[in-house]
Amino acid sequence: MTDCQGDGEGASTPMELYERLGAQGDKVRSLKSAKAEKAEVDAAVQLLLKLKIDYKQMMGQDYKAGCPPSEEAAAPDNGPAAEGDEDTVDPWNVSTTNAKGVDYEKLIVKFGSSKIDKELVDRIEKVCGQKPHRFLRRGVFFSHRDMHQVLDAYEKHKSFYLYTGRGPSSEAMHVGHLIPFIFTKWLQDVFDIPLVIQLTDDEKYLWKDLTVEECHRFAIENAKDIIACGFDLNKTFIFSDLDYMGASPEFYRNVVKIQKHVTFNQVKGIFGFTDSDCIGKISFPAIQAAPSFSNSFPQIFGSRSDIQCLIPCAIDQDPYFRMTRDVAPRIGYPKPALLHSTFFPALQGAQTKMSASDANSSIFLTDTPKQIKNKINKHAFSGGKDTVEEHRKYGGNPDVDVSFMYLTFFLEDDEQLEKIRQVREEIGPQTRSD
Ligand code: TRP
Repeated sequence: MTDCQGDGEGASTPMELYERLGAQGDKVRSLKSAKAEKAEVDAAVQLLLKLKIDYKQMMGQDYKAGCPPSEEAAAPDNGPAAEGDEDTVDPWNVSTTNAKGVDYEKLIVKFGSSKIDKELVDRIEKVCGQKPHRFLRRGVFFSHRDMHQVLDAYEKHKSFYLYTGRGPSSEAMHVGHLIPFIFTKWLQDVFDIPLVIQLTDDEKYLWKDLTVEECHRFAIENAKDIIACGFDLNKTFIFSDLDYMGASPEFYRNVVKIQKHVTFNQVKGIFGFTDSDCIGKISFPAIQAAPSFSNSFPQIFGSRSDIQCLIPCAIDQDPYFRMTRDVAPRIGYPKPALLHSTFFPALQGAQTKMSASDANSSIFLTDTPKQIKNKINKHAFSGGKDTVEEHRKYGGNPDVDVSFMYLTFFLEDDEQLEKIRQVREEIGPQTRSD
């Protein structure tokens, strides 16, 4: 347990104060759960409040657990969100009360990332000389960190590499899992660059009720689905952590360098770990960070540690890479750049993402066309009116209609998509049972 660390006096940096706040918050919680004397709890709460005031004075914004005061997290404070107004987005939970899905504009502000605006899409088109992928045209990839810097360097003939990954928690992958891979394949094609794909079977062993052997087997099974996306065989390295960590001294060296530069309080703040989480979870973020540095892969990059990394991923993985970007300059490496995607909606609606643990919310890569049709007809939320009659009369709402949202991910033809959107609006989604 974290012991009393004194008060805010003497905290010379925002990070120190932030860490003290995290520790004091833990102390209050543990006193409460141990049913300590009221006076003791009150004193701890008083100190916590005082630290929060000190923090606000120092930073000009409220303390927020999970948002350490690094430049990455320098997000302006928009005031406390109304109860129930906040979307939840972290590596383990995605939920919102809004049928249109998570408010991604707000998330950009909260995470302190940048919007992928028209200017950036145009620039990508100019630099790679190809029509932008539909995920860029339609805002599926909507947020980034340092993408302009990657393009500046690329224009000066300084290349970069791609890194993405998958936590193999089940045998079958679903269509939502494919989004980052489909986009990564396009990036690899248009920029003609190396790609590393991390399969975090170790992570799934630590988090789920699975054996090491099962997780490793899922990694191999998932690798087959990933390979089927069509990556360049000569430029792609797919690895299981359980295999590669022990086989690559260079990879492990980077893991320990990262471990040395992140405190328990920082990962508590970023990931919400508690004192009762196993130590494997606490150190895991260093393992997800390591592939962001090119010298983790000497078989590809030799001893070069200066090759820029670009990570396409769903936005829920950003906490890992905020941490990575914070550590990178301190261990002499470039910060990885990022491209963030929205979530692929569950069949029941965009309030949450598609999840393999709920078979009815998911379309698996192993489902037959007939199964898919049945799932869509039976479960896909149409956002229509209360009765079929009303629905026919007033039309559907493409903003919340899940089968329409799926088309925005998968239908290539912009004109056809727009036509379907208009038809949906006019007559509602009963057209899909045609
Ligand atoms: N943690 C991710 C998951 O559970 C897997 C992952 C590892 C990943 N490295 C990554 C995802 C890099 C995106 C980018 O699915």
